[in-house]
Amino acid sequence: LVAGIDSSTQSCKVVIRDAETGKLVRQGRAAHPDGTEVHPDAWWSALQQAIVQAGGLDDVAAASVAGQQHGMVALDEFGEVVRPALLWNDTRSAGAAADLIAELGGGDKWADAVGIVPVASFTLTKLRWLARNEPSNAARVAAVCLPHDWLTWKLSGSTSLSDLRTDRSDASGTLYWSAKTNEYRHDLLELGFGRSLIVPEVLGPTGIAGRLPNGAPLGPGAGDNAAAALGTGALPGDVIVSIGTSGTVFASSEVAPNDPTGTVAGFADTTGRFLPIVVTLNAARVLDAAARLLKVDHDELSRLALTAEAGADGLVLVPYLEGERTPNRPDATGAIHGLTLRTSTPAHLARAAVEGMLCALADGLDALIATGAQARRIVLVGGGARSEAVRRIAPALFGRPVVVPPPGEYVADGAARQAAWITVGGDVPPAWSAETPAVYEDTSVPLIRAQYASAQHAVLDRPR
Ligand code: XUL
Repeated sequence: LVAGIDSSTQSCKVVIRDAETGKLVRQGRAAHPDGTEVHPDAWWSALQQAIVQAGGLDDVAAASVAGQQHGMVALDEFGEVVRPALLWNDTRSAGAAADLIAELGGGDKWADAVGIVPVASFTLTKLRWLARNEPSNAARVAAVCLPHDWLTWKLSGSTSLSDLRTDRSDASGTLYWSAKTNEYRHDLLELGFGRSLIVPEVLGPTGIAGRLPNGAPLGPGAGDNAAAALGTGALPGDVIVSIGTSGTVFASSEVAPNDPTGTVAGFADTTGRFLPIVVTLNAARVLDAAARLLKVDHDELSRLALTAEAGADGLVLVPYLEGERTPNRPDATGAIHGLTLRTSTPAHLARAAVEGMLCALADGLDALIATGAQARRIVLVGGGARSEAVRRIAPALFGRPVVVPPPGEYVADGAARQAAWITVGGDVPPAWSAETPAVYEDTSVPLIRAQYASAQHAVLDRPR
């Protein structure tokens, strides 16, 4: 047996699978607190609850932890957490991101150096915010790591900072590690924070990050998106679109993307290759907000959306409800355009919410394709993929067939597959048979994206 863990923004999930066949044997889950600033102890207690619910880890032969990316876990010289972690969706470091771009001489310099361009999500911008705004906390920081690194280290039982380990995928989202050269850029860490820090050693795909109390190896783990790529078993030519707390559009690639605009981030994957990715801040929660506004549940929201015409008679919802990261406008707000007597119905609003959220992701898909990604089909996952309206409307907006694998814990499954890879060895992760996905293919209805683009410009062109 192997264990895969997903410590996500909202909850912690543990899956225990048969290492050879991938068959699900047991699982557990526990909730995380809300907010964009969370004390890592809350993740640790949720992980322990989820492990108990999953029947414990005593009988597993290996385990790996995947998790939400980028969060700044700052540790003092004794290994104690200095302050609550600032998460990937905390935008207070937007000013720091802009400063870092200017200080290095432009986004292209960052793309050349580390494959990504600063936005508020990335770890180094949070360290800069800490240095500027909480100098006494900053003075205590001896080491910095990421959510999944910290949990792996806790599971190993070590309290020594020299035992911190991470993997390429999560290291590639920090701004101080380059996926292209597989090296830390301590100079950039010093530029951002003002001095150097202890950072986790970056392991290869099947490196061993520590051991569980029963002696079983802990894998290097992964950022959640890279783990999902492993967990869905996506094929070459597939682009994964995940509609969760964040919206992500990504593919596995042989070549490191280099996008000086920062729209496509050049992360690493879990297999030694690359994971070009576009990330939006507004995904499943756009559907949550629309359901709340209409006082309906998600099934009813989906039913309503499918009763309106494609394009919702010109009603457009621009979904920047929490500011936005792609485009990089942390201060943006959402907007509803095209409200008329005819379009002010629950069905129109439901349709506009689904279309607006998908149009933002379709823009991301275009950017990914522009960097050379192939996109023969879209693999749609995440909580938002449960909506029938999302599934049926997506092919038209993405312009290609959409496959929806059966609901599952793809991030935790990816971590479990990495753990299985450690137990069986070899150059590629073990193949696990997957259930047949549902296929959605109606790619007609081109109009919607043009009306979305003009509403989006009205939002982005508004004086700041
Ligand atoms: C990726 C990102 C999000 C988080 C969500 O860059 O910020 O997808 O990893 O957990």
